[in-house]
Amino acid sequence: MYIGIDAGTSGLKAILVDENQNILADQTVPLTVQSPQTGWSEQDPEQWWAALLEALDGLQAASPEAMADVKAIGLSGQQHGAVLLGAADEVLRPCILWNDVRSDEECKEFEELFPQSRAVCGNIAMPGFTAPKVLWVRKHEPDIFKKIHSVLLPKAWLRLKLCGEKIEDMSDASGTLWLDVGQREWSDEALKATGLTRDAMPRLCEGTDIAGQLLPALAKRWGIKHQPIIAGSAGDNAASAIGLGAVHTGNAFLSLGTSGVLWCTTDCFRPNTDSAIHAMCHALPQSWHQMGVTLSAASSLSWWAEINHCDVSTLLDELPEQVVRPSRALFLPYLNGERTPYNDGRVRGAFFGLDRSLSRQELTQAVLEGVAHSFRDALDGLKEAGSVIRSADVIGGGSRSRLWVSILASVLNLPLHRLAHGEQGGAFGAARLARLALSSEDVENVCTPPERSETISPIPELVEAYTHAQERYRFAYPLLAKITTAGHGVPHHAGPH
Ligand code: XUL
Repeated sequence: MYIGIDAGTSGLKAILVDENQNILADQTVPLTVQSPQTGWSEQDPEQWWAALLEALDGLQAASPEAMADVKAIGLSGQQHGAVLLGAADEVLRPCILWNDVRSDEECKEFEELFPQSRAVCGNIAMPGFTAPKVLWVRKHEPDIFKKIHSVLLPKAWLRLKLCGEKIEDMSDASGTLWLDVGQREWSDEALKATGLTRDAMPRLCEGTDIAGQLLPALAKRWGIKHQPIIAGSAGDNAASAIGLGAVHTGNAFLSLGTSGVLWCTTDCFRPNTDSAIHAMCHALPQSWHQMGVTLSAASSLSWWAEINHCDVSTLLDELPEQVVRPSRALFLPYLNGERTPYNDGRVRGAFFGLDRSLSRQELTQAVLEGVAHSFRDALDGLKEAGSVIRSADVIGGGSRSRLWVSILASVLNLPLHRLAHGEQGGAFGAARLARLALSSEDVENVCTPPERSETISPIPELVEAYTHAQERYRFAYPLLAKITTAGHGVPHHAGPH
């Protein structure tokens, strides 16, 4: 029996999985995000811990016998957040999260202080990543910075609470900008650029390593017979990849969540920072991946639903089953800036081509298409970085819309698979990693692909029409970047170069 935990941003999920990979019980505890200022996004780590206790108490109540036999616990979680700890491991301030954009300036400073950072860390310094957040604290909260004894990512802090040790896996460590991603080792130069040393870093492990043992008091609380080990861990995207069986070069998935992720597994470290692609370690040893991230995916549609005072499902129900031509309007989904390919936290979105004859339906279609165009930018970035993608699984809340997936298939010119039973996200991947850590089973046998309900193929006429639409879409970004800052007297410095 295995437990998989995914410490997400909007909720913490825990599942209980048996030897046949059946999910026996699952618990999700919602979490809130605090935004004390525009562009800030924070959470109190104690909220995660309370959620974890509640979720595991819930698993115990639901399946006490199965819980008694738990052998290992796997961990996955939101990436990049900075949990700052003092000398007694006390939390010094709320965690600054992955979607917090306050550290724009510090990103530039980091790259000036460590000019090889893109080549070594595989990523552009972006406000989402951990190192610039710590530079921001050094500048704006110097008293807190002076007290920093160690820095942990969200799920590494949960591991500390579970087993008393500071340990981080390679996939999540890749999102800090302190890891030499090719060498799978902390980079002293990167740490120096933020005024830190290796002493502040947790011990590194592979995603399939045994890394800690549950504290006896917690094992007792949950009625677990033998003190289980903490084994298997990864950032949420890497854990999802394990859950989807994306373990071989070219395996890809597209996540239509709040933000959007296009993932491709690679057999070597292959960065492409010119297109703002992330290159990171996978959760398996000697395996890496590339990833494009668009910041407002399903959240673009929920924003549009809020504007219309209705549910997302109401908007989707108004649309035809199949699109016959692109909307006459164009939507740019930069509601919170954009990562891939522009790395621009300041640009904002737009509707273009508004016309009296446009209906709400056609604008909704434009929103779905705009998000698909931003995924196309990510796909082209992955291709430029050498990835060959022949098809992809689609996961995340947005994948429930067949129409949206079919628009994506034609915009990307890629067959897309929908899953038969939805996906279990990072928690299922974490449970698989825990199993791999305990056994000598082959990765292929454990990380099988999920059952697919259908494959949606691109429609040739639409592929052509969307290729033209993509040109218009790309034409709009430089104009928007200019408009965003026009009249503010500040030149726009964004962009990957
Ligand atoms: C990846 C990223 C997000 C978070 C969400 O770079 O920032 O996908 O991991 O939890």
